[in-house]
Amino acid sequence: MKQDMIVILDLGSSENTRLAREIRELGVYSEIYPHDITKEELAKLPNVKGIIINGGPNHIVDGERIDVDAHVYEHGYPVMAVAHALATCEDVLNAWSEDKEERLAVLKKFVFDDCKCETNWNMKNFIADQVELIREQVKDKKVLLALSGGVDSSVVAALLIKAIGKQLVCVHVNHGLMRKGESESVVEVFKNQLDANLIYVDVSERFLGKLENVADPEKKRKIIGTEFIRVFEEEARKLEGIDYLAQGTIYPDIVESGTKTAKMVKSHHNVGGLPEDLGFALVEPLRQLFKDEVRACGLELGLPDEMVFRQPFPGPGLGVRCLGAITKERLEAVREADAILREEFHNAGLDKKVWQYFTVVPDFKSVGVRDNARCFEYPVILRAVNTVDAMTATIEQIDWPVLLKITDRILKEVKNVNRVCYDLSPKPTATIEWE
Ligand code: XMP
Repeated sequence: MKQDMIVILDLGSSENTRLAREIRELGVYSEIYPHDITKEELAKLPNVKGIIINGGPNHIVDGERIDVDAHVYEHGYPVMAVAHALATCEDVLNAWSEDKEERLAVLKKFVFDDCKCETNWNMKNFIADQVELIREQVKDKKVLLALSGGVDSSVVAALLIKAIGKQLVCVHVNHGLMRKGESESVVEVFKNQLDANLIYVDVSERFLGKLENVADPEKKRKIIGTEFIRVFEEEARKLEGIDYLAQGTIYPDIVESGTKTAKMVKSHHNVGGLPEDLGFALVEPLRQLFKDEVRACGLELGLPDEMVFRQPFPGPGLGVRCLGAITKERLEAVREADAILREEFHNAGLDKKVWQYFTVVPDFKSVGVRDNARCFEYPVILRAVNTVDAMTATIEQIDWPVLLKITDRILKEVKNVNRVCYDLSPKPTATIEWE
């Protein structure tokens, strides 16, 4: 690794990631470590140029005051402590200014004047470093990757293809709950354009069979998750000579689960969950990146915009948006309506603005009229939300003409649907998904 690094020691500040991101935006690499990092661990980190002790209002954890060890000051690195009065530290900056400009000035002074960092953190260097590291780790062995088509797994795939080409085996499982055109685009981009070693498994019918008559949301999730891992394992066991499993783990996954003082963040299970007994070693080349950096990496590797800026999509896919027991009829309705919503959001320029938007089809019908006759059909619910961390969310106030256009198209083009509703509920009390 060639990049200079600023180490952030976490004393329970909720601002750790913001700080790390601000430093990286200056072109300098930064990582967060627990406050009680040992002398040996700290000494082992490559290219450290300085340390920031980041103590926030909750540096009292479980009634106990926490502090860094004295050795932190003995390595000879410049040290800055923020928002936290440390008895052992002379150079205390008592209050971390809330003014962005002021903070940035303090940060720049520390990073460039005191620590003498160079601005060598960028995607070109990152990719070059990772390609080298991956080759060193993997040698002539094979790597397996569950390629869902999501941003993270797609970027991992592109990076590994660059590093080891056909030694990467991608498995794309189409569980039949993907959005319209999604599996096709995975095949098009990775098999046809990037010439990847891609195994495409269509198990739509198998999943629909397993989900038949299952109405309980949690049971549906369990079936989808378990079945996905089974399919993936079956494929993995057919292959020979695989030693590594690649995963799209990114930095927030590590920070949120890894630090002692970080508050527990609700964790969602991805259907790409790790089959533990397969005995593979892990390759996780994005483990240092924030989401926007993952996207920048994807663009740098030449992935298409639609893939890189893909909105979040739950692992269980349309299974959580086709409420109650899934039927082909309603799954088709939710998929077609979703495709219309996405197209019209794109046309209205809302796709880059709104965090997540999708359609839901509940498992009840209502009376309507079609061609002067009574019809008894399903409603489609539209949902469009904005959020920072998915813990709370507000709805997007879509202009009427856009809503009316979407409604008109869905009513004309989607079979078995006679009503369209817009969900105005924020989270809380609603969740983002309906399930
Ligand atoms: P809720 O509905 O809990 O959703 O407000 C919050 C966010 O999480 C997404 N979501 C998932 N993402 N695997 C995922 O990777 C899942 O199982 C899953 N379930 C929900 C949801 O789309 C929303 O963005």
